[in-house]
Amino acid sequence: MTQLPGLLDTEAIRKDFPVLDRQVHDGKKLVYLDNAATSQKPRQVLDALNEYYERHNANVHRGVHVLAEEATALYEGARDKVATFINAPSRDEVIFTKNASESLNLVANMLGWADEPYRVDHETEIVITEMEHHSNIVPWQLLSQRTGAKLKWFGLTDDGRLDLSNIDEIITEKTKIVSFVLVSNILGTFNPVEAIIRRAQEVGALVCIDASQAAPHMPLDVQALQADFVAFTGHKMCAPTGVGILWGRQELLEDLPPFLGGGEMIETVSMHSSTYAPAPHKFEAGTPPIAQAVGLGAAIDYLTSIGMEKVAAHEHALTEYAVKRLSEVPDLRIIGPTTAEERGAAISFTLGDIHPHDVGQVLDEQGIAVRVGHHCARPVCLRYGIPATTRASFYLYSTPGEIDALVEGLDYVRNFFG
Ligand code: ALA
Repeated sequence: MTQLPGLLDTEAIRKDFPVLDRQVHDGKKLVYLDNAATSQKPRQVLDALNEYYERHNANVHRGVHVLAEEATALYEGARDKVATFINAPSRDEVIFTKNASESLNLVANMLGWADEPYRVDHETEIVITEMEHHSNIVPWQLLSQRTGAKLKWFGLTDDGRLDLSNIDEIITEKTKIVSFVLVSNILGTFNPVEAIIRRAQEVGALVCIDASQAAPHMPLDVQALQADFVAFTGHKMCAPTGVGILWGRQELLEDLPPFLGGGEMIETVSMHSSTYAPAPHKFEAGTPPIAQAVGLGAAIDYLTSIGMEKVAAHEHALTEYAVKRLSEVPDLRIIGPTTAEERGAAISFTLGDIHPHDVGQVLDEQGIAVRVGHHCARPVCLRYGIPATTRASFYLYSTPGEIDALVEGLDYVRNFFG
C-alpha cells in the first residue's frame, strides 16, 4: 500500500462513512472521487439528523414549548459552530441560506437594492473572473442587466491561473464589488487573494469570496482573508444538502437591505410597511433549513475533531501524488496548475481525444466515480478550447490506493478506445 507523509488514518476515518463500503456494478469496490461535487457524510452527521428528527423537531424562534426551545438552541448552536469554524468576529455575521449559489445571489441582490454608498448602477462596475462557477457569474450578469452596471472579469493564463497583469484596468475607481473564487472547482487553482483584495481596498470596492471549494478542505479564517463577504456550502463539507452559509461584515449586514421578505425576518409589520429584524435574521425569511444546519454543526464538530490543518495536509499529499501519477498517463493533459502547491484536490484532465463522458462512463463501469462535463464553469472550457473535462477530486477519506485505481482505470479506458 502506498504511504505518503502527512496522510490521515484513512482506515479509521473510512469506518465513519458507511457509503464508502458500497460495491457497485456487480461487486466492484466503490472508488468515490467526486468530492468536489459533494462529499459523503459520516455516521456522526447521520446520527445528529436522526436524533434531531426523533427527539427535537419543531419550528424555531416562534414556540414557547420544549421542543421549539430545543430546536432553536440546536439551530442557533449550529450558527455558533460556523462562527468559530471560520473565526467570525460575531455569530450575527453568519447567515444560513440553502446553498452557496443562494449566498452569492443574496450578495448581488443586497447590492442591487442598496442605496449609496453601496448602490450599483449604470455608472459602476462589477468584477468577477473567467474561472468562476456559474453561481458566481449569473447573479452578477442579472445585476448588471438590471442596473446597467458594467460586468468585467480577469482572464486566465494558459496554465490555469488568473491573469492579473491588467489588475489596475480591471479594478478601477468605478468598481463597486469584486467577487471571485478562492479555489476553482474545475481548475483546482488557489487564487492570489491578497493582491486582489489590496487593489479592491485601494479603490474602495467590496470583496466577495466564493469559498465553496476551500471551506471543506483547509482552515478558513474570514478575519485573515479581509473580504467583506464569504460564501460556502455545507454539503461539500460532510453536512447534508440544503444549507449554505453567507458570512458578511456586521456593519454591511446592518446597512444593506434584505432580499427575501417573509416571516422571521421582520420586527413589525403593518398593512403599509414593515421594519426588519437585525442581521442575521433580516436575511433568513421563512422557516430556515433547521435540520440541515444541525447536521452542518455535527459536520463541523467532526472536521474540527480531525483538524482542518491535518485535512489540508492529507489532501496536499494526495494531490501531489495524483498529479505525479496522472502525468505518467500517456495523452493525459491536466487542465489547471500542475504543481500541488498552487492547487487544491480537484484535478481536471482530458485524455487524448476520448470524450470525457466516455471516460467517465468506462471508469464508472469499474466502480470509479468521477465527474465529467463543464462543471458549471463553462467559460473555462471555452477558454481552453475543450468541450468538457473529466474531474477527480479527493477528500479526507481518499487514499493513494484510490488514485492508483484511477490510473489503472484510465489505462483500461485508453485500451478500450484503442
Ligand atoms: N459545484 C459542484 C461541482 O463543481 C456541483 O461539481
